[in-house]
Amino acid sequence: MKLTDEQKSLLNGDKGSFLAKCMSWLVDWGEAMGAERMIPVTNTHALVTVPGNLVWGADQKTINSAMELLRPALKHPVCCHSTTHITFAHEEQYKEIEMPQEQVKAQLEVMEMARDSGFLMTYTCAPYLVGNVPIKGEICAWTESSAVVYANTILGARTTRHGTESAIAAALTGFVPEFGVLLDQNRLASIQVEVTAKLRSPTDWGALGYFTGKETGLEVPVFSGTPQPLQEDAKQLCAALATGGGVTMSHIAGVTPEAETLEKALGGKIPRRKIQFDDNELIDSYNQLRDHTDDAIDTVILGCPHASLQEIAEIAHYLKRKHIAEGLTLWVCTAYATRANAERLGFAKIITDAGGYIFCDTCPTNSMRLKAKRIITPGFKQAHYARNMIGAEVIIDNLKACLDAALTGRWQNG
Ligand code: F3S
Repeated sequence: MKLTDEQKSLLNGDKGSFLAKCMSWLVDWGEAMGAERMIPVTNTHALVTVPGNLVWGADQKTINSAMELLRPALKHPVCCHSTTHITFAHEEQYKEIEMPQEQVKAQLEVMEMARDSGFLMTYTCAPYLVGNVPIKGEICAWTESSAVVYANTILGARTTRHGTESAIAAALTGFVPEFGVLLDQNRLASIQVEVTAKLRSPTDWGALGYFTGKETGLEVPVFSGTPQPLQEDAKQLCAALATGGGVTMSHIAGVTPEAETLEKALGGKIPRRKIQFDDNELIDSYNQLRDHTDDAIDTVILGCPHASLQEIAEIAHYLKRKHIAEGLTLWVCTAYATRANAERLGFAKIITDAGGYIFCDTCPTNSMRLKAKRIITPGFKQAHYARNMIGAEVIIDNLKACLDAALTGRWQNG
């Protein structure tokens, strides 16, 4: 790989051994992926949390190994606009729920170091909802697969899928290896998904993403025939694309900034494959995540990816002057900044008065390994992971059906 003098100097340790280590990770990764050069990055979203793999109640050895990376890393200032991916909970909530003390202690230390090194501690899987909105063409280094797809597909920014080490290394050195969707030719679509199904809710968009992810794997799909998505639709589509498969970017013809037309998304070529998403595929996607044995619900999880203020307002309007069923837990997951906004606007109180809980900065299944028997959720990503990670039965349905289940304690099929 060709390196500039500045990059060689970093690699040689002129700015310290930790930055040299970061540079060598990025160079090795780039060489393995066939990159020819390193390019400047101006926006990162990194997993700055303890332990690195977010396992609730991790043992001391795992915590120590996460701290071995984070302590030296966070002594350096970040080079650009850098936000943080979810932790296992916001510090205020440490008092409200039972959390493993060693992890709490380490996380508080990390939070302070991250603040000093210049990270904006947004602690969310949807950084684009709380101020990290890169512009078209901006080179980013983002963790969180759903956010990566959103950045590439909806914002037209450019990021490959990052892990903890690479995103932190990019934030500290200011460089990323140039490969994958950072290059024009790798952003072109190869598969066309013709959408004839009626998409009536964000969860329907999630069904489209889940189906397409399974069909396309690592390739770039382009959607034709869809209506104009709202932000919440796009959020579900992107999360499900990265769950059903390993999609890094997609195009929505007429919506994705670099795909004003279907032809442009395909680079003027004929798609390698053309598939259809009709009403049968829509129903089938839902049915894949509905293999429950009973309709009684004990847990409702909303806000995957993290809820927008608009979603919280909708939830509040629906629950106003009502109360959720006894013995049921309703989680609304969001970023701290969004919760603060919802508190100020009065929506948070309506939800908590109804018996719900607005939980910040974390993910009930992915990081906290919540215990639940039967979950209903409008998020395909949550539905997919909840069954695999915590072994709960899961039902996927739209937001209204989830809220009805929260009020009655049962899922009303159809
Ligand atoms: Fe976010 Fe957890 Fe969903 S990380 S995207 S709430 S599975």
